[in-house]
Amino acid sequence: MAVSWYAVLALAATALGATIGPTEKQILEKSACGRVWVTVHSPEIRLAASVTLLDAVELNWDFNGCFSTPKQIGLFDDRPQSWDNALSVFRVTTSEGHVVTNMSLGEGTLPAGWATGAGVKGPQCLWPWVAAGENAEIQAFNCLKIQPTWMEDAGSKINNLRVGDLAIAGTHNAGAWKFNTEVSSVSRDSFVLCQDRSIWGQLVHGIRYFDFRIAYYDFYQNEEARYWLNHNLIRVRPLVPLLREIRAFLDVTKEVVFLDAHHFPVGFYQPDGAPIRPVHAGLLEIVQRELGPHLALANQFGTGIGTRGPTLQTLINADKRLLFSYVDNSIVSQNSWLWPILPHLWANTNSPTELFQYLDRAIASSPQPSARSPLFSAMAQTTPTVLDILFLRGSLRDNADAVNRNVTARLATRWRTQANIISTDFFLGNDVVDLSIMISIERASRL
Ligand SMILES: *[C@@H]1O[C@H](CO)[C@@H](O)[C@H](O)[C@H]1NC(C)=O
Ligand SMILES: *[C@@H]1O[C@H](CO)[C@@H](O)[C@H](O)[C@H]1NC(C)=O
Repeated sequence: MAVSWYAVLALAATALGATIGPTEKQILEKSACGRVWVTVHSPEIRLAASVTLLDAVELNWDFNGCFSTPKQIGLFDDRPQSWDNALSVFRVTTSEGHVVTNMSLGEGTLPAGWATGAGVKGPQCLWPWVAAGENAEIQAFNCLKIQPTWMEDAGSKINNLRVGDLAIAGTHNAGAWKFNTEVSSVSRDSFVLCQDRSIWGQLVHGIRYFDFRIAYYDFYQNEEARYWLNHNLIRVRPLVPLLREIRAFLDVTKEVVFLDAHHFPVGFYQPDGAPIRPVHAGLLEIVQRELGPHLALANQFGTGIGTRGPTLQTLINADKRLLFSYVDNSIVSQNSWLWPILPHLWANTNSPTELFQYLDRAIASSPQPSARSPLFSAMAQTTPTVLDILFLRGSLRDNADAVNRNVTARLATRWRTQANIISTDFFLGNDVVDLSIMISIERASRL
């Protein structure tokens, strides 16, 4: 990545520091050229017959286009000051790459008061830090962060961007993160769970777009207990508590969140494909009840076909910061407050090569001039085939691992000017949150 990373840093720093410049202690990420960053390895690693390592910390570097490449990279458990404090050090021989350490992230507890409610504003570090350099010198450093208030932090820079011009980190199948059914509370499996952080945790980490797959089961007595978050035909968690996590976040921040009812796999349609109107109406009622005060109504804030939607400033001034899009046109046409179908760029392939070929083309030609939605989402994950699932070939964690680093690299280069929402699985395996913040600031600086 040959852009002037230093300039972007300075921009971010001024946004954060307002009038006083940030002191060395406040800077969480620094480099004169290139970058280092921390990710989390999504598959488990078998160390010995009975020992597995979960959530191994990964160290990444990209010094493409820089005059020189550092000679070593290390893991630290605090701000890197000296190589003597490194937990592990690895030699660097290529201009870009990664190493998987043998240290687990552990609980990944959200820092600075964000574990259960509002904490300190601004980016904050979890324990792992990375540094690169040589001999005595530390040239670049970074930490694994949360970005709970990134839109507000960068507000003076990015608020004039329209929502369709932002770069936004999203999660595919956002609610599929740990079973919460009568029979299961499993948190790791092969082919259903796509995430391992709660909706609250995802928001605190900086995710602002959620792709929800909602199902309806009429065997529950209580009406609201009938709505579930699914992955295709499999029930994962009840819907209402997830909406409450989004509500709690909107209540305590000034962030803008995009919620997308993208697929209704069970209970919303007749066998002939006709929508079951009372089931859709019941969902809309629940969303209005749980999120009502924050809803930015499409009939009030929409800007018309082929445009990029309202600016962040418009939404913040009105204090309406949740945009709810709905995949069914016939329901949208009767409920003009719903945002229209949000196009998903879906390669529907289990091959990483085909995924990137498809996304390169699809992102370059998006948005379509006739698009009704100001937003579009690149689905940056592969899709297992039925045979993959039947024969237990791989897992969603392996699949995410096979593409997440390339997603980071693509967003930093080819997708940099055009991408809007980038939705991934196991998002801690990529750096889309921090990159999309930088890219949004960069786009705004050109307005
Ligand atoms: C972890 O890796 C470090 C070197 O980076 C090594 O010294 C240490 O023995 C390893 N620990 C385990 C448990 O494998
Ligand atoms: C992903 O990135 C690696 C490292 O740059 C590269 O070798 C590999 O071919 C890439 N994979 C795809 C599918 O583009």
